[in-house]
Amino acid sequence: MVFGHELNLTKKDVGGAGLTSSGDPLPQDTLQTCLASGAVLLGAVGGPAFDNVPKDLRPERGLLRLRRELGAFANLRPAICFSSLEDCSPLRPEVVRGADILIVRELLGGIYFGEPRTTEGAAGSRVAIDTMRYGEAEIERIARVAFELAQSRRRLVTSVDKANVLDCSRLWRDVVTRVAREYPTVQLRHIYVDSAAMALVSHPTDFDVLLTENMFGDILSDQAGAIVGSIGMLGSASIGGPVALYEPVHGSAPDIAGKGVANPLGAILSVAMMLRYSFHLEAEAECVEAAVASVLDAGHRTRDLAKRGQAAIGTVEMGRHIVGALKENCALAR
Ligand code: IPM
Ligand code: MG
Repeated sequence: MVFGHELNLTKKDVGGAGLTSSGDPLPQDTLQTCLASGAVLLGAVGGPAFDNVPKDLRPERGLLRLRRELGAFANLRPAICFSSLEDCSPLRPEVVRGADILIVRELLGGIYFGEPRTTEGAAGSRVAIDTMRYGEAEIERIARVAFELAQSRRRLVTSVDKANVLDCSRLWRDVVTRVAREYPTVQLRHIYVDSAAMALVSHPTDFDVLLTENMFGDILSDQAGAIVGSIGMLGSASIGGPVALYEPVHGSAPDIAGKGVANPLGAILSVAMMLRYSFHLEAEAECVEAAVASVLDAGHRTRDLAKRGQAAIGTVEMGRHIVGALKENCALAR
């Protein structure tokens, strides 16, 4: 152990695992343990085996309930182009070089949680309804998170909405503009989500903090993952409540599950965020991030990052390299 901290780990089921072990995608015992913990690290939920279970039992419901129970309204998803991964991006290296985006996604509102949400009517003429709903207070608190974080970055908040069509977005724009007045050193620009999708792939370095609502953030963060080389590289922190939740941005990847080839760096970078935001161990967090950069610089690649003809290593081996780099590089940082 490099820094001499001791972490007590408790493992609990959620999502499909919870459903299998106790018929609930968020078992009571899991929730209670999470609420009594210093932080929560989540893998991924879901899989084809659960595609036909009733909607309230879906693995994803377990995750959404957990986010809500933890009060985790602010989802931070950094999408950083590591310099040795420039040529893993589907974009030209000169387009993606230096990209360093922090997506601040509202996580407890919008169409993910709005009521009513129903499917009604007879087969053949069914009608489904989802509700996008936002209140001023919800928008205000997430906007504040974005502006606060922008202050220690490049001081640009890009707020993404669909204010030309949606009432929720018009309210969003209004409230974000109002909050921005409290942060005169931070520049704010508004952009429609369709245009943001285009700008992200054509000029990713134009973004610093990207502030957006729940569903737009879900979509754009996968896109940002591809831009920086692989969604397997993205970690995230869901903060705002008493206990924060850390999870890689990627899903359960059923096509490679159990094969030992998944990229663990998204999960490892999520742990770095945990050290930073929950335990206030900034130097330790930076060591983990530096270890990831140095292992990539040394040319180690999981399958998602390897180019044609390049050797790929498995999940466990990548993990070992990170531990090795931590021991080697961070002993001095103590
Ligand atoms: C994510 C995931 C989740 C979401 C799913 C699994 C519910 O896609 O964290 O991006 O949509 O928020
Ligand atoms: Mg997603």
